[in-house]
Amino acid sequence: MNATKKIPEVSTFTFLKQALKILNNPLPFHHKNFEKHGDIFKLNIGFGNYAVFSRDAELAEYVLQKNWKNYKKSEIQTEQLAKYLGKGLLTSEGDYWRTQRKLIQPAFHKKSLDTLLDTIKNTIVEEVSKLKTNISVDVLPVFGDLAFKVVVKSLFSNAVTNDEIKTLQDVTEENQLMLVKELRQPYLKWYFQSFGIIKKHLSRSQESRDILLNIINRRKQSQAQHNDLLDMLLSARYHDGSAMSNEQLIDEILVLFVAGHETTANSLSFTLQLLAHHLEWQEKVRHQYQLVLADANSDLMSVIGQSQYAKQVVEESMRLYPPAYFMDRVNLEDDTFKGFHLKKGTSFLFSILEIHKHKDLWEHPEAFMPERFTPEKAKGYSSHYFPFGAGPRKCIGNNFAMFEMIMAVSELVSKFKIYPVQDTIEVNPLITLRPKHAFLKFENIN
Ligand code: HEM
Repeated sequence: MNATKKIPEVSTFTFLKQALKILNNPLPFHHKNFEKHGDIFKLNIGFGNYAVFSRDAELAEYVLQKNWKNYKKSEIQTEQLAKYLGKGLLTSEGDYWRTQRKLIQPAFHKKSLDTLLDTIKNTIVEEVSKLKTNISVDVLPVFGDLAFKVVVKSLFSNAVTNDEIKTLQDVTEENQLMLVKELRQPYLKWYFQSFGIIKKHLSRSQESRDILLNIINRRKQSQAQHNDLLDMLLSARYHDGSAMSNEQLIDEILVLFVAGHETTANSLSFTLQLLAHHLEWQEKVRHQYQLVLADANSDLMSVIGQSQYAKQVVEESMRLYPPAYFMDRVNLEDDTFKGFHLKKGTSFLFSILEIHKHKDLWEHPEAFMPERFTPEKAKGYSSHYFPFGAGPRKCIGNNFAMFEMIMAVSELVSKFKIYPVQDTIEVNPLITLRPKHAFLKFENIN
């Protein structure tokens, strides 16, 4: 097709006039321009290069899935994040990524996850039991601890000390905060470098790597079978029969910490806030969970499979508040789409948040309606619902995350009635979409 249409452009002057505001919160800038220009607009980012912003679900599907080979990730993940984590699934590209994905994928298949469910549930029950009742609780750090411990215990079972967990979690969180600073304040790069701030964070990363090497060596020397993710990763073999080196294993584990922890914590916090405002859905989830648990024959996998209301609530929560609220790619070669010419080297920024609330795609897009995710209806959304991304780079942990969140939500509503502390749900758009002031009150049911 001839590419003749021009992508509407937002002038650099308009952008610069609001640059500080946009740096603080880019969401109103995105929304205003989509409303004004349609589902795609571009911004000159200098030297003849453009950033294309889009909430066109078909374009997102085209880039992430149909023609994915022509698109690579931006440097945010493959360089900026990679300097703290190394070269793991999230941060690598090309043949290396493809080989690693093939090697690691089986550990995240439903059958493998089945062996982790007891560990995941026990960790959730332990963390939920620590919740304070009848006072206002900021749930984001609570779910941050929960999600981190779930990943750590799924990886290492109990073969990890509390001190080790604490350092691993502290370093993961500190480095993520540092990356936010680097991305938000690129003009301070010289300061971060000259004053040794980045070096300090890199040496904290090394502390994590040393701990992980210790855990791996302990595991290699022990004869015990743990049936956890570490066992699965250690026994995975490449085509030629070799295993991952310790360095590769450490890179992948650090990536799992980052990819699997904040996203899940954010999503649980948003889901619980939504439930606090919708007592009728708390009741539905609670009632269904009690019925499912009463069936003595139910193993954990079927408990999760039958907890349909909890699943719908989580899915609707990720529609309204997708933790990965934008996804970025850069095209390797020129391309065309719907009559637009997409010049090689263009940066694409897909607003998943805007796609999930597009008025042409969703009825009552702003309303919390888990009923829209019944199994029959949910199939109809696959072309414009992307909380876990799409295509070959779709989240490897999506089943893991769904199982974890369904169990956590079900456990929480079965133990507590949950009340809001404020009228609105506020967002804090950083690298992930975080909740702001996620305070809730929990009241014991029995
Ligand atoms: C609510 C929770 C989660 C959300 C919303 C989420 C979202 C995403 C998204 C959107 C991507 C694709 C990014 C892109 O294509 O640019 C991704 C990739 C990834 N996620 Fe998740 N994720 C979640 C939980 C998890 C968990 C629990 C794990 C592991 C324990 C995990 C591990 C990964 C990994 C390793 C990748 C990179 C995959 C690859 O490129 O091959 N995620 N995630």
